[in-house]
Amino acid sequence: MNHEAHAAVLDREPAKSEFLSEAIAGLSSTPRTLPCKYFYDARGAALFQKISELPEYYLTRAELQILDRYCGDIARALGPNIELIGLGTGAGTKTRILLEKLEVPAAYIPVDISKKQLERSTASFRKIFPTLEILPVCADYLEPIRLPSPARQALRKIVYFPGSTIGNFEPDAARQFLQRVANHCRRGGGLLIGVDLQKDRHVLERAYNDSAGVTAQFNLNLLARANRELGADFDLEQWQHYAVYNSTESRIEIYLISEIDQTVRVQDRQFDFRAGERIATEYSYKYTKESVIELTREAGFDFSQMWTDDARWFGVFYFICSRGR
Ligand code: AVI
Repeated sequence: MNHEAHAAVLDREPAKSEFLSEAIAGLSSTPRTLPCKYFYDARGAALFQKISELPEYYLTRAELQILDRYCGDIARALGPNIELIGLGTGAGTKTRILLEKLEVPAAYIPVDISKKQLERSTASFRKIFPTLEILPVCADYLEPIRLPSPARQALRKIVYFPGSTIGNFEPDAARQFLQRVANHCRRGGGLLIGVDLQKDRHVLERAYNDSAGVTAQFNLNLLARANRELGADFDLEQWQHYAVYNSTESRIEIYLISEIDQTVRVQDRQFDFRAGERIATEYSYKYTKESVIELTREAGFDFSQMWTDDARWFGVFYFICSRGR
Protein backbone atom coordinates (compact mmCIF):
# COMPACT_ATOMS: atom_id res chain seq x y z
CA MET A 1 0.00 0.00 0.00
CA ASN A 2 1.45 3.38 -1.04
CA HIS A 3 0.00 6.81 -1.10
CA GLU A 4 -1.24 8.88 -3.98
CA ALA A 5 -2.78 12.31 -4.39
CA HIS A 6 -6.20 12.95 -2.85
CA ALA A 7 -9.20 11.63 -4.78
CA ALA A 8 -12.87 11.68 -3.69
CA VAL A 9 -13.61 8.07 -4.67
CA LEU A 10 -11.17 5.48 -5.89
CA ASP A 11 -12.47 2.57 -7.93
CA ARG A 12 -10.11 -0.38 -8.05
CA GLU A 13 -12.74 -3.12 -8.17
CA PRO A 14 -11.20 -6.34 -9.58
CA ALA A 15 -11.95 -6.82 -13.28
CA LYS A 16 -14.20 -9.68 -14.48
CA SER A 17 -11.20 -11.16 -16.28
CA GLU A 18 -9.57 -11.77 -12.86
CA PHE A 19 -12.63 -13.66 -11.65
CA LEU A 20 -12.52 -15.76 -14.84
CA SER A 21 -8.84 -16.64 -14.59
CA GLU A 22 -9.05 -17.36 -10.84
CA ALA A 23 -12.20 -19.48 -11.29
CA ILE A 24 -10.60 -21.53 -14.10
CA ALA A 25 -7.38 -21.98 -12.14
CA GLY A 26 -9.32 -23.02 -9.02
CA LEU A 27 -11.61 -25.46 -10.81
CA SER A 28 -8.58 -27.00 -12.57
CA SER A 29 -6.63 -27.52 -9.32
CA THR A 30 -6.64 -30.44 -6.87
CA PRO A 31 -8.54 -30.07 -4.60
CA ARG A 32 -10.88 -27.88 -6.62
CA THR A 33 -11.46 -24.40 -5.25
CA LEU A 34 -13.26 -21.15 -5.94
CA PRO A 35 -11.92 -18.03 -4.16
CA CYS A 36 -14.14 -16.82 -1.33
CA LYS A 37 -13.50 -13.15 -2.12
CA TYR A 38 -16.01 -13.53 -4.97
CA PHE A 39 -18.82 -14.24 -2.50
CA TYR A 40 -19.34 -10.51 -2.12
CA ASP A 41 -21.26 -9.23 -5.12
CA ALA A 42 -24.37 -7.15 -4.23
CA ARG A 43 -26.45 -10.29 -3.49
CA GLY A 44 -23.59 -11.96 -1.60
CA ALA A 45 -23.03 -8.85 0.53
CA ALA A 46 -26.78 -8.75 1.32
CA LEU A 47 -26.74 -12.48 2.21
CA PHE A 48 -23.71 -11.97 4.44
CA GLN A 49 -25.59 -9.18 6.22
CA LYS A 50 -28.39 -11.73 6.84
CA ILE A 51 -25.86 -14.30 8.09
CA SER A 52 -24.55 -11.80 10.61
CA GLU A 53 -28.06 -11.57 12.11
CA LEU A 54 -28.66 -15.35 12.34
CA PRO A 55 -29.08 -16.84 15.82
CA GLU A 56 -26.36 -19.44 15.13
CA TYR A 57 -23.80 -16.98 13.71
CA TYR A 58 -22.46 -15.60 16.99
CA LEU A 59 -19.39 -13.83 15.51
CA THR A 60 -20.93 -10.46 14.65
CA ARG A 61 -22.95 -10.28 17.87
CA ALA A 62 -19.92 -11.14 20.00
CA GLU A 63 -17.76 -8.53 18.25
CA LEU A 64 -20.49 -5.90 18.62
CA GLN A 65 -20.86 -6.74 22.30
CA ILE A 66 -17.13 -6.17 22.75
CA LEU A 67 -17.20 -2.86 20.85
CA ASP A 68 -20.28 -1.62 22.71
CA ARG A 69 -18.70 -2.44 26.04
CA TYR A 70 -15.11 -1.38 25.44
CA CYS A 71 -15.23 1.27 22.69
CA GLY A 72 -14.06 3.95 25.15
CA ASP A 73 -11.02 1.86 26.17
CA ILE A 74 -10.28 0.95 22.56
CA ALA A 75 -10.48 4.60 21.45
CA ARG A 76 -8.10 5.59 24.27
CA ALA A 77 -5.64 2.88 23.19
CA LEU A 78 -5.76 4.13 19.57
CA GLY A 79 -5.27 7.75 20.66
CA PRO A 80 -6.17 11.11 19.06
CA ASN A 81 -5.66 12.37 15.50
CA ILE A 82 -5.33 8.98 13.81
CA GLU A 83 -5.84 7.96 10.20
CA LEU A 84 -8.20 4.99 10.42
CA ILE A 85 -8.02 2.58 7.49
CA GLY A 86 -10.96 0.15 7.54
CA LEU A 87 -10.46 -3.08 5.59
CA GLY A 88 -13.65 -4.90 4.60
CA THR A 89 -15.71 -2.85 7.02
CA GLY A 90 -18.93 -3.66 5.08
CA ALA A 91 -22.05 -1.82 6.23
CA GLY A 92 -19.89 0.01 8.81
CA THR A 93 -21.85 -0.82 11.98
CA LYS A 94 -18.69 -1.61 13.97
CA THR A 95 -16.65 1.26 12.56
CA ARG A 96 -19.38 3.70 13.47
CA ILE A 97 -19.22 2.65 17.14
CA LEU A 98 -15.47 3.19 17.07
CA LEU A 99 -15.50 6.50 15.17
CA GLU A 100 -18.02 7.93 17.61
CA LYS A 101 -15.50 7.44 20.43
CA LEU A 102 -12.28 8.42 18.63
CA GLU A 103 -10.72 11.73 19.63
CA VAL A 104 -10.57 14.05 16.59
CA PRO A 105 -9.75 11.38 13.98
CA ALA A 106 -7.81 12.86 11.04
CA ALA A 107 -9.44 10.72 8.34
CA TYR A 108 -11.28 7.50 7.63
CA ILE A 109 -10.33 5.38 4.60
CA PRO A 110 -12.74 2.46 4.11
CA VAL A 111 -11.47 -0.17 1.66
CA ASP A 112 -14.01 -2.73 0.46
CA ILE A 113 -14.48 -5.05 -2.49
CA SER A 114 -18.26 -4.55 -2.54
CA LYS A 115 -18.82 -1.27 -4.41
CA LYS A 116 -22.56 -0.86 -3.69
CA GLN A 117 -22.07 -1.39 0.01
CA LEU A 118 -19.11 1.00 0.10
CA GLU A 119 -21.10 3.73 -1.65
CA ARG A 120 -24.04 3.24 0.71
CA SER A 121 -21.98 3.21 3.91
CA THR A 122 -19.89 6.21 2.78
CA ALA A 123 -23.04 8.25 2.06
CA SER A 124 -24.40 7.46 5.51
CA PHE A 125 -21.04 8.10 7.27
CA ARG A 126 -20.74 11.49 5.55
CA LYS A 127 -24.08 12.46 7.13
CA ILE A 128 -23.17 11.14 10.58
CA PHE A 129 -19.60 12.56 10.60
CA PRO A 130 -19.89 15.71 8.44
CA THR A 131 -16.48 17.12 9.43
CA LEU A 132 -14.53 13.86 9.03
CA GLU A 133 -12.56 13.38 5.82
CA ILE A 134 -13.73 10.06 4.32
CA LEU A 135 -11.83 8.61 1.36
CA PRO A 136 -13.50 5.36 0.19
CA VAL A 137 -11.54 2.91 -1.96
CA CYS A 138 -13.23 0.04 -3.80
CA ALA A 139 -10.51 -2.60 -4.10
CA ASP A 140 -9.40 -6.09 -3.25
CA TYR A 141 -7.26 -5.40 -0.22
CA LEU A 142 -5.54 -8.77 -0.64
CA GLU A 143 -3.63 -7.15 -3.47
CA PRO A 144 -1.14 -4.30 -2.99
CA ILE A 145 -3.17 -1.11 -3.34
CA ARG A 146 -2.40 2.59 -3.32
CA LEU A 147 -4.38 4.55 -0.77
CA PRO A 148 -5.30 8.24 -0.97
CA SER A 149 -3.54 10.76 1.27
CA PRO A 150 -5.78 12.67 3.70
CA ALA A 151 -5.58 16.47 3.76
CA ARG A 152 -4.67 16.54 7.45
CA GLN A 153 -1.48 14.89 8.67
CA ALA A 154 -2.33 12.19 11.25
CA LEU A 155 -0.26 11.20 14.27
CA ARG A 156 -0.38 7.55 13.28
CA LYS A 157 -2.06 5.15 10.88
CA ILE A 158 -4.24 2.45 12.30
CA VAL A 159 -5.64 -0.38 10.23
CA TYR A 160 -8.98 -1.70 11.43
CA PHE A 161 -9.71 -5.22 10.21
CA PRO A 162 -12.93 -6.44 11.85
CA GLY A 163 -15.14 -9.49 11.40
CA SER A 164 -12.46 -12.20 11.67
CA THR A 165 -11.86 -11.94 7.93
CA ILE A 166 -8.21 -12.77 8.72
CA GLY A 167 -9.62 -16.27 9.41
CA ASN A 168 -10.45 -16.62 5.71
CA PHE A 169 -6.73 -16.46 4.82
CA GLU A 170 -4.43 -19.47 4.81
CA PRO A 171 -1.78 -18.88 7.52
CA ASP A 172 1.00 -18.04 5.02
CA ALA A 173 -1.24 -15.60 3.18
CA ALA A 174 -2.32 -14.11 6.53
CA ARG A 175 1.33 -13.55 7.49
CA GLN A 176 2.16 -11.90 4.15
CA PHE A 177 -0.95 -9.76 4.31
CA LEU A 178 -0.16 -8.60 7.86
CA GLN A 179 3.40 -7.80 6.80
CA ARG A 180 2.01 -5.51 4.11
CA VAL A 181 -0.23 -3.88 6.70
CA ALA A 182 2.80 -3.39 8.98
CA ASN A 183 4.79 -1.83 6.12
CA HIS A 184 1.93 0.57 5.55
CA CYS A 185 1.35 1.51 9.22
CA ARG A 186 5.07 1.84 9.99
CA ARG A 187 6.62 1.95 13.46
CA GLY A 188 4.18 3.39 16.00
CA GLY A 189 1.15 2.68 13.80
CA GLY A 190 -1.38 0.09 14.88
CA LEU A 191 -3.62 -2.80 13.95
CA LEU A 192 -7.06 -3.30 15.49
CA ILE A 193 -8.31 -6.71 14.44
CA GLY A 194 -11.34 -8.87 15.26
CA VAL A 195 -10.61 -12.60 15.44
CA ASP A 196 -12.89 -15.57 16.06
CA LEU A 197 -11.47 -17.84 18.78
CA GLN A 198 -11.39 -21.64 19.03
CA LYS A 199 -14.36 -23.21 20.76
CA ASP A 200 -16.59 -26.29 20.85
CA ARG A 201 -16.86 -27.72 17.32
CA HIS A 202 -20.66 -27.99 17.55
CA VAL A 203 -20.99 -24.25 18.13
CA LEU A 204 -18.75 -23.66 15.12
CA GLU A 205 -20.51 -26.11 12.82
CA ARG A 206 -23.94 -24.71 13.73
CA ALA A 207 -22.70 -21.20 12.84
CA TYR A 208 -21.86 -22.34 9.29
CA ASN A 209 -24.85 -24.69 8.79
CA ASP A 210 -27.67 -22.43 9.92
CA SER A 211 -31.17 -23.86 10.09
CA ALA A 212 -32.64 -21.17 7.78
CA GLY A 213 -30.20 -22.15 5.02
CA VAL A 214 -28.83 -18.62 4.51
CA THR A 215 -25.18 -19.77 4.54
CA ALA A 216 -26.11 -22.37 1.90
CA GLN A 217 -27.61 -19.59 -0.28
CA PHE A 218 -24.49 -17.48 0.31
CA ASN A 219 -22.26 -20.36 -0.78
CA LEU A 220 -24.40 -21.22 -3.82
CA ASN A 221 -24.45 -17.55 -4.86
CA LEU A 222 -20.83 -18.02 -5.90
CA LEU A 223 -22.02 -20.40 -8.62
CA ALA A 224 -24.90 -18.06 -9.54
CA ARG A 225 -22.36 -15.23 -9.86
CA ALA A 226 -20.12 -17.38 -12.07
CA ASN A 227 -23.17 -18.09 -14.27
CA ARG A 228 -24.08 -14.41 -14.45
CA GLU A 229 -20.64 -12.88 -14.89
CA LEU A 230 -18.59 -15.61 -16.54
CA GLY A 231 -21.26 -17.30 -18.65
CA ALA A 232 -20.84 -20.55 -16.69
CA ASP A 233 -23.68 -23.10 -16.60
CA PHE A 234 -23.71 -24.41 -13.03
CA ASP A 235 -27.09 -26.01 -12.24
CA LEU A 236 -27.66 -24.73 -8.69
CA GLU A 237 -30.11 -27.58 -7.97
CA GLN A 238 -27.25 -30.07 -8.34
CA TRP A 239 -24.95 -28.60 -5.69
CA GLN A 240 -25.14 -28.94 -1.93
CA HIS A 241 -23.64 -26.67 0.75
CA TYR A 242 -21.47 -28.46 3.34
CA ALA A 243 -19.47 -27.02 6.27
CA VAL A 244 -17.34 -29.00 8.72
CA TYR A 245 -14.75 -28.23 11.42
CA ASN A 246 -11.27 -29.62 10.77
CA SER A 247 -9.74 -29.73 14.26
CA THR A 248 -6.25 -30.59 12.98
CA GLU A 249 -6.12 -27.37 10.95
CA SER A 250 -8.35 -25.41 13.40
CA ARG A 251 -10.62 -24.27 10.61
CA ILE A 252 -14.17 -24.50 9.35
CA GLU A 253 -14.11 -25.82 5.78
CA ILE A 254 -16.91 -24.85 3.44
CA TYR A 255 -17.64 -26.83 0.31
CA LEU A 256 -20.08 -27.17 -2.55
CA ILE A 257 -20.70 -30.86 -3.22
CA SER A 258 -21.84 -32.16 -6.58
CA GLU A 259 -25.10 -34.16 -6.19
CA ILE A 260 -24.59 -36.06 -9.46
CA ASP A 261 -22.01 -36.82 -12.14
CA GLN A 262 -22.08 -33.65 -14.21
CA THR A 263 -20.15 -31.45 -16.64
CA VAL A 264 -19.97 -27.69 -16.11
CA ARG A 265 -18.88 -25.20 -18.76
CA VAL A 266 -17.12 -21.97 -17.97
CA GLN A 267 -16.80 -20.16 -21.31
CA ASP A 268 -14.70 -22.46 -23.51
CA ARG A 269 -13.60 -24.75 -20.65
CA GLN A 270 -15.32 -27.94 -19.43
CA PHE A 271 -15.09 -29.41 -15.94
CA ASP A 272 -16.29 -32.92 -15.12
CA PHE A 273 -17.50 -33.65 -11.61
CA ARG A 274 -18.32 -36.99 -10.05
CA ALA A 275 -21.27 -37.28 -7.63
CA GLY A 276 -19.89 -36.39 -4.19
CA GLU A 277 -16.94 -34.45 -5.60
CA ARG A 278 -16.46 -31.08 -3.93
CA ILE A 279 -15.27 -27.55 -4.53
CA ALA A 280 -13.67 -25.85 -1.51
CA THR A 281 -15.10 -22.33 -1.41
CA GLU A 282 -13.87 -21.03 1.95
CA TYR A 283 -11.77 -21.80 5.01
CA SER A 284 -12.44 -19.98 8.23
CA TYR A 285 -9.51 -20.43 10.65
CA LYS A 286 -10.15 -20.22 14.38
CA TYR A 287 -7.33 -18.91 16.56
CA THR A 288 -6.32 -18.87 20.21
CA LYS A 289 -5.16 -15.66 21.87
CA GLU A 290 -1.59 -17.02 21.73
CA SER A 291 -1.78 -18.02 18.06
CA VAL A 292 -3.06 -14.54 17.05
CA ILE A 293 -0.19 -12.92 18.97
CA GLU A 294 2.31 -15.27 17.32
CA LEU A 295 0.92 -14.66 13.81
CA THR A 296 1.02 -10.88 14.13
CA ARG A 297 4.42 -10.86 15.88
CA GLU A 298 5.93 -12.60 12.85
CA ALA A 299 4.49 -9.81 10.70
CA GLY A 300 6.02 -7.02 12.81
CA PHE A 301 3.37 -6.22 15.44
CA ASP A 302 3.68 -6.19 19.23
CA PHE A 303 0.66 -7.25 21.24
CA SER A 304 -0.90 -4.44 23.23
CA GLN A 305 -4.38 -5.47 24.41
CA MET A 306 -7.24 -7.90 23.84
CA TRP A 307 -10.90 -7.32 24.63
CA THR A 308 -13.28 -10.27 24.66
CA ASP A 309 -16.99 -11.11 25.13
CA ASP A 310 -18.61 -12.89 28.10
CA ALA A 311 -18.17 -16.36 26.56
CA ARG A 312 -14.61 -15.54 25.36
CA TRP A 313 -15.67 -16.65 21.88
CA PHE A 314 -14.27 -13.64 20.03
CA GLY A 315 -11.32 -11.31 20.52
CA VAL A 316 -10.69 -7.72 19.46
CA PHE A 317 -6.91 -7.30 19.52
CA TYR A 318 -4.80 -4.16 19.38
CA PHE A 319 -1.21 -4.40 18.16
CA ILE A 320 1.45 -1.75 17.73
CA CYS A 321 3.72 -1.85 14.73
CA SER A 322 7.35 -2.33 15.68
CA ARG A 323 8.91 -2.15 12.22
CA GLY A 324 9.84 0.50 9.68
CA ARG A 325 10.44 4.19 10.17
C1 AVI B 1 -16.25 -12.91 6.45
N1 AVI B 1 -15.91 -14.12 7.18
C2 AVI B 1 -15.22 -13.81 8.42
C3 AVI B 1 -17.02 -15.04 7.40
C4 AVI B 1 -16.56 -16.23 8.26
O1 AVI B 1 -17.21 -16.47 9.27
O2 AVI B 1 -15.55 -16.87 7.94
C5 AVI B 1 -17.60 -15.52 6.08
C6 AVI B 1 -18.69 -16.52 6.24
N2 AVI B 1 -18.79 -17.62 5.53
C7 AVI B 1 -19.86 -18.27 5.91
N3 AVI B 1 -20.46 -17.63 6.88
C8 AVI B 1 -19.74 -16.50 7.08
